[in-house]
Amino acid sequence: MPTDEQAPWSAIILAAGEGTRMNSSRPKVLHAIAGRPLVSWVVGTALEAGAARCLVVVGHGRAEVERELAETFGARVEVVLQSEQRGTGDAVRCAMESDPALSGRVVILYGDCPLIPESLIRSLVEQSQAAKANLGLVTATLPTPDGYGRIVRDGRGAVARIVEDCDCSDEEKKINEVNPGLYDVDAGFLRDAIRQLTSDNAQGQRYLTDVVELAARRGDVVSVAADMADLMGVNDQRDLAICAARRRRRIAETLAKKGVAITDLDALYVDADCQVEGGASLGAQVHLRGKCVVRQGASVDVGCVLTNVVVEANALILPYTVATDSTIGEGASVGPFSHLRRQSKLGPRSKVGNFSETKKTTLGEGSKVNHLAYVGDGIIGKGVNIGAGTIFCNYDGEQKHTTVIGDDVFVGSDSQLVAPVTVERGAYIASGTTVTRDVPEDSLAVGRAKQENKEGYAARLRARLRRKKR
Ligand code: UD1
Ligand code: CA
Repeated sequence: MPTDEQAPWSAIILAAGEGTRMNSSRPKVLHAIAGRPLVSWVVGTALEAGAARCLVVVGHGRAEVERELAETFGARVEVVLQSEQRGTGDAVRCAMESDPALSGRVVILYGDCPLIPESLIRSLVEQSQAAKANLGLVTATLPTPDGYGRIVRDGRGAVARIVEDCDCSDEEKKINEVNPGLYDVDAGFLRDAIRQLTSDNAQGQRYLTDVVELAARRGDVVSVAADMADLMGVNDQRDLAICAARRRRRIAETLAKKGVAITDLDALYVDADCQVEGGASLGAQVHLRGKCVVRQGASVDVGCVLTNVVVEANALILPYTVATDSTIGEGASVGPFSHLRRQSKLGPRSKVGNFSETKKTTLGEGSKVNHLAYVGDGIIGKGVNIGAGTIFCNYDGEQKHTTVIGDDVFVGSDSQLVAPVTVERGAYIASGTTVTRDVPEDSLAVGRAKQENKEGYAARLRARLRRKKR
């Protein structure tokens, strides 16, 4: 929300470009860092900084970009079409022409700069409004400025114009002060200035950056220095990986500051929409993707990959567990090497151990699936023990069926439960049984060949085999 002394302002975000340098069929601005597409980072930051309106210029891959924006921001974003990508100046023209009534101040951002801090937008708006300048822009200094537009200053040190990297003379190439691409402009001035842009340059495009020279001629530019580390743009996969690492590090630091115990700030992969409570701990190489929640006292150990998983308080996720769209109850224990597939709901203090797989299954309070089991499409009550190697045979080749297990049932090792089947409370399944019929309460189900012992047979057999060998 705009502060009292600040006039309301609109944001224009440019996101129509193709991004050929990404070498990908996906539109550039939809590449994600920390689980959120580039353009959504920028839009989110503009809204947080107080934009009263947010116009996003789309073009390349517009249907996909529009869908993402609508899903994430709904009516808070207005989409403008730039049908042909004729340059950043042309993109801004499309936005301004989409609403002839748009007035006041306009903040322009590029949809491929996902690290911009909200505080920098606020401070640019404040400073250019205080100076009553037609145009305010951010600049930054870089040891290797390659690729960025350079800031050309006049003899008195005032900003005179911006030269694009490919239009630079040898002298201009050496300038270290660059244009990160964040502007605050008076709408009336902007409307007039974009009409004057030409495509008389190396790329044959209408450059937004030429607007700076038009303002500078009137002595009407304010510049704000900032740190380039926060402002880097994404043009290729390398830039994307660098930005992603920076964003992840920021997320890890924020979590650590609020009391999450983190083994390695540089080896934690938590998406932006995950929530981790103070007092939880996260080991190295842990990935929390999508919308995970990890509550207080819970621990997610080395190498776990959780996607949309809720980990309740004091639960323990041991190393190398993979879980998706599932809930892990309070004080439960999972792993090492467990695989929880979609709709697994583990009750409080339940246990899923090594090499066990669950899918679409509820496991009641205190129940255990400790070793090498597959439980799919199951409804399992409280205090149940599922022995090692148990399989819920849920698929008949055409359809999936449900296995229902009552409270306090004991399923012996290496049993198969052929669904649909129900085992009522307190029943006992002998090891190695294939259960094909329902088992009544408190009964024993045993289905296996009778054992026969032939005394002395082993010794005689060994002797015979050894004679043969000689
Ligand atoms: C631009 C700046 C450059 C600056 C750099 C910072 C211009 C002319 N140059 O260069 O001075 O240093 O960003 O990262 O502005 N876009 C459209 N429509 C178009 C062209 C681009 O919407 O017709 C969008 C792209 O989707 C992208 C953004 O504008 O999000 C920037 O375009 P890009 O081609 O990446 O500009 P740079 O060459 O990086
Ligand atoms: Ca760029």
